[in-house]
Amino acid sequence: KIVVLDFGSQFNQLITRRIREFGVFSELHPHTITAQEIKDMNAVGIIFSGGPNSVYDENAFKVDEAIFELGLPILGICYGMQLMSYSLGGKVEGADHREYGKAEINVTLDNKLFGNLPKEQVVWMSHGDLVTEVPPGFDIIATSASCPISAMQNVERGLYAVQFHPEVRHSVYGNDLLRQFVFDICHAKGDWSMANFIELEMKKIREQVGDKQVLCALSGGVDSSVVAVLIHKAIGDQLTCMFVDHNLNRKGEVEQVMKTFTEDFDMKVIKIDARERFMKKLKGVSDPEKKRKIIGNEFIYVFDEESSKLEGMDFLAQGTLYTDIIESGTSTAQTIKSHHNVGGLPQDMKFELIEPLKTLFKDEVRALGLELGLPEEVVWRQPFPGPGLGIRVLGEVTEDKLEIVRDADYILREEIKKAGLDRDIWQYFCVLPDIRSVGVMGDARTYDYSIGIRAVTSIDGMTSDWARIPWDVLEKISVRIVNEVKHVNRVLYDITSKPPATIEWE
Ligand code: XMP
Repeated sequence: KIVVLDFGSQFNQLITRRIREFGVFSELHPHTITAQEIKDMNAVGIIFSGGPNSVYDENAFKVDEAIFELGLPILGICYGMQLMSYSLGGKVEGADHREYGKAEINVTLDNKLFGNLPKEQVVWMSHGDLVTEVPPGFDIIATSASCPISAMQNVERGLYAVQFHPEVRHSVYGNDLLRQFVFDICHAKGDWSMANFIELEMKKIREQVGDKQVLCALSGGVDSSVVAVLIHKAIGDQLTCMFVDHNLNRKGEVEQVMKTFTEDFDMKVIKIDARERFMKKLKGVSDPEKKRKIIGNEFIYVFDEESSKLEGMDFLAQGTLYTDIIESGTSTAQTIKSHHNVGGLPQDMKFELIEPLKTLFKDEVRALGLELGLPEEVVWRQPFPGPGLGIRVLGEVTEDKLEIVRDADYILREEIKKAGLDRDIWQYFCVLPDIRSVGVMGDARTYDYSIGIRAVTSIDGMTSDWARIPWDVLEKISVRIVNEVKHVNRVLYDITSKPPATIEWE
């Protein structure tokens, strides 16, 4: 295992991710961890991450200096390099101006960290301070125009450090450098996989839960599904799942969720039929933000009410991912805030939280889901907003409109899948605008709804482009929707990117 110490950089989790991609287990730990704790973990190497501080700040993050005496190789990155230098008697100074972006470095001394990588390479720098004098026993191994000591080493003690960020893709050979450290310097084995992660997490869950009971709010989405199955694998029937049917799910989804979890996985799932409650609350409301609030709040009320009927639930399982964790200012792993994605459950609930996915990225969660035997439709489910179809029926949400959008959306999903495009498009769905237009069907005039097709490609949902669905596929979709869905006489295709539009229409 490689232990990464967190000094607050935004990229710190990326380091652990890169190392796991090499098949070596890696975990992020707060910088306050002691040398003894690291020793007890059987680590083979340590990485100090970057961070926003200066080593001279009053509250600068420090480490237990006994860590340098463990005899384990250490790689310092950015702040990690400055801290190593400062702790071991080198000199750190403020640069004339902050360096941010691409830089070219020169490897000036043959060394194990750069191995056979090119002597000149482009790296990504982001720092204010820099090391101006290496500690006794250290050699400079790379330089750049604005940062003469770009990398240093003390081979005897196994200490290495770089001023740039090898974990960021813009550092062209960054990944290779991390690989050199992990394999050539730490001699890690490279036999870690998702299967090991499952074993390890199951053990942790069992230890945390003991003989107590866990409740999990299942939404049918990837994250909550994976969490539920993982926890069920660890503690079996000590887990109870709750699925709230708010009437805003896509066609067939409620049935699919119930079948998957109760039949295929033999789990305890309580389905709460809250359809009427949600519809009553949404009656007459057309403002999108009001609808969101109502749906979010109602979810909490229902969940609160129903969970308090269950006796002896001590833990609440949540599918929080690393990307849901928002860092606040100069925080490190201990002080990060969690953003809970189960329709936003409040922090003050009486449960203790279990969040076994919080160190994972979405693609790792998918790999985990597949390893746990979840079906591909669940693992590859497209992102679906918490308020569900409530924000895809524009304006007031009524039963009739929900039915129209559900049926149209079902056809769209079917045809996209048939065309083999389902993995290429980030999200594809139908919206029902609050307008009607004139058409002609079987010689008669119609005055009916339009369906909007929204399909986008994206990496993270922050920005997106409209998906170029082939004309013939669009034609099939349009013909089927107009023919098969009552009260629709027109199909529109949204060709706006985000920004300036958003992915959803509300
Ligand atoms: P927008 O429409 O803001 O959507 O471009 C970006 C991503 O977020 C999803 N989305 C939501 N997810 N609650 C959620 O949990 C919401 O209220 C919500 N609104 C949008 C949207 O589906 C897309 O993936």
